[in-house]
Amino acid sequence: MILIPGPASIELGSRIALSLGVKPHPVEHRIFPDGESYVRLTTPVEGETVVIIQTTAPKQDQRLMQLFMMAGTAKGLGAKRIVCVVPYLAYSRQDKRFKEGEALSLDMVLGLLDSIGADDLIVVDAHSTESLDKIETEHEINVHNLSAIPLLAKELKKIGFKGAYSLSPDKGAIHLAEAAAEILGGGSGFFEKFRDRTTGEIEMKVEDLKIADEKAVVFDDIISSGGTMARAVDGLKVLGAEMVAAACTHALLMKGAKEKIEKAGADLIISSDTIQDCEDLVTVSIAPTIADALKSLK
Ligand code: R5P
Repeated sequence: MILIPGPASIELGSRIALSLGVKPHPVEHRIFPDGESYVRLTTPVEGETVVIIQTTAPKQDQRLMQLFMMAGTAKGLGAKRIVCVVPYLAYSRQDKRFKEGEALSLDMVLGLLDSIGADDLIVVDAHSTESLDKIETEHEINVHNLSAIPLLAKELKKIGFKGAYSLSPDKGAIHLAEAAAEILGGGSGFFEKFRDRTTGEIEMKVEDLKIADEKAVVFDDIISSGGTMARAVDGLKVLGAEMVAAACTHALLMKGAKEKIEKAGADLIISSDTIQDCEDLVTVSIAPTIADALKSLK
């Protein structure tokens, strides 16, 4: 197995290599003045199973193009099997046509990987497992969806959130809260959104939740602008929760997101390293989970 960390996942790639006990072979790469990417594989791949690790957090289009270039080059140079590990898969939220005429972006990303000749795609906490499963059936590529939620819950249990109530910001993500509750042990639920007819403001509430003086954790797949998480944290603090943690797999954390969540009253923000290490964020590594998945590939 040849492990190739792409430019977006050098550190995670090294951690996965360490977990597997293999040497990583990072690509040579640079960005031309006009923004185009250059990549060059640095080791022969003919006849090999090649694992390319490249997350696709901002700049998504550039990261995706680099992924396509690495996978396509490995294919062109005679790799036997190409496994793309894309911990954060960009464009996953546009998995349906919510309005007529919209692009099915997730379908296109999978289609491109397919046509390049990638055999397997490993992702972490895909935005919608249901949509991904449906789209996967229309392509040849085998998709493996891993989860960082058990790791996050185990870490939270160690650092004072044992017995905390687990919540998801909406019903669609309840599976995240349920998986966490199996480890934290404090039960699970989800938020419902209410719109104030006068102000138009959205409030997030859990009906009949008694959380005063208790601990709670909100689990989401992504924190981007931080708006969803901040509203959820605020809702719990209004109900008198003693300690609230904000947990996510993919900390996109756009400008101001962290401050927004802290201002809402979060005592802790925790994420996995699918995107990056934030020095001032508690982070758990998904590397051992990915290494196990790679070991068990048939
Ligand atoms: C939405 O369906 C996702 O699961 C996240 O809740 C959402 O992407 C978070 O976005 P933001 O941080 O911008 O509210």
